[in-house]
Amino acid sequence: MIDAHGRTIDYVRISVTDRCNLRCTYCMAEDMQFLPRRDLLTLEEIADLARHLVARGVRRIRLTGGEPLVRRGFAGLAHMLGSLRSEGLGELTLTTNGVLLPGMAGELRRAGIERINVSMDTLDAEKFAAITRGGNVGKVIAGIDAARAAGMSVKINMVAMRGVNDGEFADMARWCGARGCDLSLIETMPLGQVEGDRADTYLPLAAARDVLERELTLLPSLHRTGGPSRYFDIAETGARVGFITPLSDNFCASCNRIRIAATGTVYGCLGHDQKVELRDVMRTGTPGALDEALDQLLGGKPKRHDFDIARAEPATARHMSVTGG
Ligand code: GTP
Ligand code: 5AD
Ligand code: SF4
Repeated sequence: MIDAHGRTIDYVRISVTDRCNLRCTYCMAEDMQFLPRRDLLTLEEIADLARHLVARGVRRIRLTGGEPLVRRGFAGLAHMLGSLRSEGLGELTLTTNGVLLPGMAGELRRAGIERINVSMDTLDAEKFAAITRGGNVGKVIAGIDAARAAGMSVKINMVAMRGVNDGEFADMARWCGARGCDLSLIETMPLGQVEGDRADTYLPLAAARDVLERELTLLPSLHRTGGPSRYFDIAETGARVGFITPLSDNFCASCNRIRIAATGTVYGCLGHDQKVELRDVMRTGTPGALDEALDQLLGGKPKRHDFDIARAEPATARHMSVTGG
């Protein structure tokens, strides 16, 4: 699949639910309205769509949410998607808040998920509870340990927030290194209305890098995951730190992805509303109609997002939890 700007699209993010067992303040509003359950694709439909996309050249699939592990039957879906590796899928990955991993990690590893990203913005229990509106960081750590014990690679996602967790970057990097985990620092993106003003905590990651380099030695790395993160090896820990800089250093020119919401709506860009609806096409249309809809999406895929943290309105009304990043 090639879009109108000549970019090859071989990576698909699939949000299997917009619901979550946490409520991160930068991600969700307190009174989120969730998508009606009756509008969701079934797990079989998600697998059929994924198979179709793999036949069209998709090589990586990342499962996201909301929190993907709260979707009933998720492990079964992972097995269905894992089996697409015999049809050309190169990698099946997962982004999770980690809370439900202790009971699921072994099964997910057996389904073929070898690499996961776990969101953990702080190691401080009180701060974690404040950011997630009641979450328990101990459960996330137990989830990370379960995933490592099951043989998965784990990368920690840390949204960098000025005045919230900006004193913890080096500690987090060392904690990750001690557990053999990589770390991604992420700039806050203005998606969907939340109670606070994200501009108040926005931290350009060049500043985070400066802070890290006061205590640790960062060596540019050629490591790539097919995602937007730019990596450095940390000499002291042997693990990596990546920087995801949608606001301060745009990476859209090399975008390789589209994202499917749990309802079968497919979005060309995280920061725009350009979309096609695939659910009815899948239920009543022909395979040709599905391809036509996908081609329409690729033809209109925006060149780049236009996130502006200083603007009062978010770039789209859609929260991150609908498309999972
Ligand atoms: P890997 O590189 O495969 O490890 O995954 P990733 O880091 O891309 O995925 P993850 O789901 O962990 O997302 C980390 C952060 O990157 C989230 O905040 C996502 O919203 C963000 N992100 C992922 N893809 C894009 C993208 O295409 N555009 C923008 N602006 N942000 C993205
Ligand atoms: N900006 C940046 N990152 C976000 N995430 C959720 N909402 C936002 C936002 N508005 C992160 C989560 C998770 C990943 C999927 O996206 O922390 O790690
Ligand atoms: Fe849930 Fe992830 Fe959003 Fe936090 S960032 S509320 S863990 S979906």
